[in-house]
Amino acid sequence: MTDKKNRRSQAWYGKLDKDGFIHRSWMKNQGFPDHVFDGRPIIGICNTWSELTPCNSGLRVLAEAVKRGVWEAGGFPVEFPVMSLGETQMKPTAMLFRNLLAMDVEESIRAYGIDGVVLLGGCDKTTPGQLMGAASVDLPTIVVSSGPMLNGKFKGNDIGSGTDVWKFSEEVRAGDMTLQDFMAAESGMSRSAGVCMTMGTASTMASIVEAMGMSLPTNAALPAVDARRTSLAHLTGKRIVEMVEEGLVMSKVVDKASFENAILANAAVGGSTNAVVHLLAMAGRVGVDLTLKDFELGSDVPLLVNCMPSGKYLMEDFCYAGGMPVVLKELGDKLRPANTVLNKDISVFADGAECYNRDVIYPIDAPLKPAAGLRVLRGNLAPNGAIIKPSAATDELLEHEAEAYVFESIEDLKANIDKPDLPVTKDTILVLKGCGPKGYPGMPEVGNMPIPRVLVEQGVRDMVRISDARMSGTAFGTVILHVSPEAQAGGTLALVKTGDRIRVSASKGELELLVDETELETRRAAWQPDQPHYDRGYAKLYIDHVLQADKGADLDFLVGKDTRPVTRESH
Ligand code: FES
Ligand code: MG
Repeated sequence: MTDKKNRRSQAWYGKLDKDGFIHRSWMKNQGFPDHVFDGRPIIGICNTWSELTPCNSGLRVLAEAVKRGVWEAGGFPVEFPVMSLGETQMKPTAMLFRNLLAMDVEESIRAYGIDGVVLLGGCDKTTPGQLMGAASVDLPTIVVSSGPMLNGKFKGNDIGSGTDVWKFSEEVRAGDMTLQDFMAAESGMSRSAGVCMTMGTASTMASIVEAMGMSLPTNAALPAVDARRTSLAHLTGKRIVEMVEEGLVMSKVVDKASFENAILANAAVGGSTNAVVHLLAMAGRVGVDLTLKDFELGSDVPLLVNCMPSGKYLMEDFCYAGGMPVVLKELGDKLRPANTVLNKDISVFADGAECYNRDVIYPIDAPLKPAAGLRVLRGNLAPNGAIIKPSAATDELLEHEAEAYVFESIEDLKANIDKPDLPVTKDTILVLKGCGPKGYPGMPEVGNMPIPRVLVEQGVRDMVRISDARMSGTAFGTVILHVSPEAQAGGTLALVKTGDRIRVSASKGELELLVDETELETRRAAWQPDQPHYDRGYAKLYIDHVLQADKGADLDFLVGKDTRPVTRESH
C-alpha cells in the first residue's frame, strides 16, 4: 500500500506554496473542486484518439467510461492526448513514428503529476508505442484496447481488413475482379469503429497484452462497439485506482515469463510477425533480456485460432467463441506462471472460460495446425536473424532453393514488377533491399511484395520473398522478413545479385546465399550505402539511432528506463 502523502501526484498538488498554487489553480479552471487534490490517486488516461487514426476513433467513449470507474473507486481521472499513429494513413510508414509516440508517452507521464496510467490504444503501432513509453517510467499501468471493427461484409460474405484487400487487388490485377466491385468492397470492409478485425497486428498486440496480463481479461476480442467493451473500460478505471494503492507498477506485472507467454499466445492465435519487433522493443524498456532466439519457444505451439490471415474467421467470431480466455485455458500448463494487473497469476484469466465454437478456437490436442509459431531463420544472408510465419505460408515453399531476382529499392520494384518480360518463374526468389529501419526509413510493411504480373496471369499466387522490411499482420505468403542486418546497414542482403542462388529451410531455420565468401568480400568492398532519405528532424534522429530489427528497432538511447522523480519546478 502506498500512503496518500507519499503519492507521486502530491509533489505537484499537495504543496501549500506558490508551486502547489500554480499546479492546482490552473487545473481548477476545468471545474475541479478543492477536495479532489486531497491525495487521492490521480490517474492519467493516455489517449491516442484521432480522426486520422480511424481504428482508434472509439477511444473517446472508452475514455469517458474509464473516468467513471476512476471516480467510482475514489481516484481523480485526467485525460491527455499523445501522438496518434494511423497505420493506414501515415507516410512513409507509421512504424517510423512508433518510437516518437513512445517518447511522447514516456515524457508526458513523467512530466505530469499522475500516479497511474490507463493506455488507450489499438491501431498497430499505438499499443507497443504506449507500452514502451510507459515501461520507461514504470508507474502502475493498464491497457484498454480499441477493440476490433465488426466483421467486414461484401456481397453477403464476410471480408477481413487487410487480408481481403491483398486478395482483391491481386484478383483485379489478374482480371478476375472488376474495379467497380473493388471500389464497392471499400465501404463494406470498414463499417464500424475499431481496429482491423482480422488477426492483424492490432488484434495480435491486444491478444498479447491480455496474455501478458497487462489488461483485464477479454480485452482483446470484444468488438469496439460492443457495450461490454465500454463496461470493461469502466472496470479498468476502477482497477487502476486499486493498482496505485497497491503500488503495482508495470515492472511488478511483467517479467521474462510474461514475454514468454506473449510468444506462446502469439503462436496460438496465428499472430502477426510484427509482434516480434514490438516485444523485443518492449522488453528492452522493461529490462527483460529477450532475444530473437526466445521466439523459437513458440515454434511448436499449435495454431488454435481460425482467424484470417492464418484461417478463415474474424475477430467478432473469435469474441463470440470465447476469446483469449479460451486460448489461455487451452495453453494451460504451457503458460509460465506470471503476474497480471489483477496481482494474480495469469492462469486466473482463464477462469470460467468456455469455448462456444470449436471451428473458431480449436482444442490444443486437436489443433487447426500442429506448429504455428514464427520461425527464426539464420545464415550468411541473415547473420542476426530473419523471420517467417509458416502458418500464413505455402507449405511446399518452406523448403526451397532457387535463383534470386533482386529489386534494389521499392521504386525499382514498383517500376518493374508488372513488366511483361520480367525474367522470373514461380520458383524465383524475389529479393527487396533498402526497406529496413534505416533504409526506408522506418521498416515499412512492404515485405509481401506483389507477385509479378506475368506470374499472376499464370495463376501463381505465392512465391518466396525476402527483404529487410516487415509485412502487414493481415498479410500472408511465403515471406521472409526482418533480415538483419538490413541492406542499408551493410548486411549481406545488400550484396545479393539477380541470378544468385538462395536456399531457404524453415524446418532447419536456414537462410543461405549460395555465393562463395571471396566473391562476397569483393562485392562488400565495392558496396556503398544509399544517401539517407532525410537530413533533419525526427527522421534524422531515427536514422542515426535506430537499432536493427533483431533488437526491436527502438532508438538506442531509449532502451531501459528512468524512474527517478522529477524534482525541479517550472516557475
Ligand atoms: Fe489500424 Fe489495422 S490499420 S488496426
Ligand atoms: Mg500494419
